[in-house]
Amino acid sequence: MHNLAKSIPAPNRRVAHPTLVVETIPTFRRAQLLDVLQICALVNGYASEKLMLPRTTEEVALELDNYVVTSDTDGRVLACAAIYEYSPSVAELASVAVDETMIGNGLGTQAVLAAERLAIGRGFEELFAMSLAGAFFESLGYAETPLAGYPEKLARYGMLVASGVEIVPKRCYTKTLVVV
Ligand SMILES: CC(C)(COP(=O)(O)OP(=O)(O)OC[C@H]1O[C@@H](n2cnc3c(N)ncnc32)[C@H](O)[C@@H]1OP(=O)(O)O)[C@@H](O)C(=O)NCCC(=O)NCCS
Repeated sequence: MHNLAKSIPAPNRRVAHPTLVVETIPTFRRAQLLDVLQICALVNGYASEKLMLPRTTEEVALELDNYVVTSDTDGRVLACAAIYEYSPSVAELASVAVDETMIGNGLGTQAVLAAERLAIGRGFEELFAMSLAGAFFESLGYAETPLAGYPEKLARYGMLVASGVEIVPKRCYTKTLVVV
């Protein structure tokens, strides 16, 4: 039988290549001063929906070293997360937020993982987070725990409420950090 494919010179033969799909994992970096206003806008947008606590630009600027962000090529912050020291071995994971247009693409997961790497690098052994998004934190290995285990956090809530900040009761989640 005549083999047509073999009779066509190799350079002219059309070969079907499988499509190569490259999924890029977003790079999270430490936040810079230029990011402060955008971090505040991102966090305070959700704070206005009572999903998270509001942050002032002064607070974010002072704690900038504790924030991780990812941004697009124009420098627009797409997601952020922060760690706040609670004790020498425990930190609070806070301000985990993803731009509304990017939700559901894994950025939240990557933000938490970047914050965990930062926490491990600082020697923390445990993170806890206050959230209404329980399934999100559980998907990342966090387990619900009583807030009573963090009395200083309870006291801070008390102070915020006393100063007029409306706080929606959230659940508390914790994770023991493992160095891999
Ligand atoms: C919560 C938030 C950070 C998740 O970011 P995201 O990029 O959409 O999350 P991911 O794509 O990484 O989702 C990971 C998993 O968590 C789940 N998840 C995401 N958002 C969730 C939410 N609000 N509630 C419950 N589960 C959620 C997803 O379904 C996904 O599960 P799957 O892997 O089984 O599909 C984002 O929705 C957000 O910014 N929300 C508003 C602020 C907020 O609530 N922050 C959290 C606590 S302070």
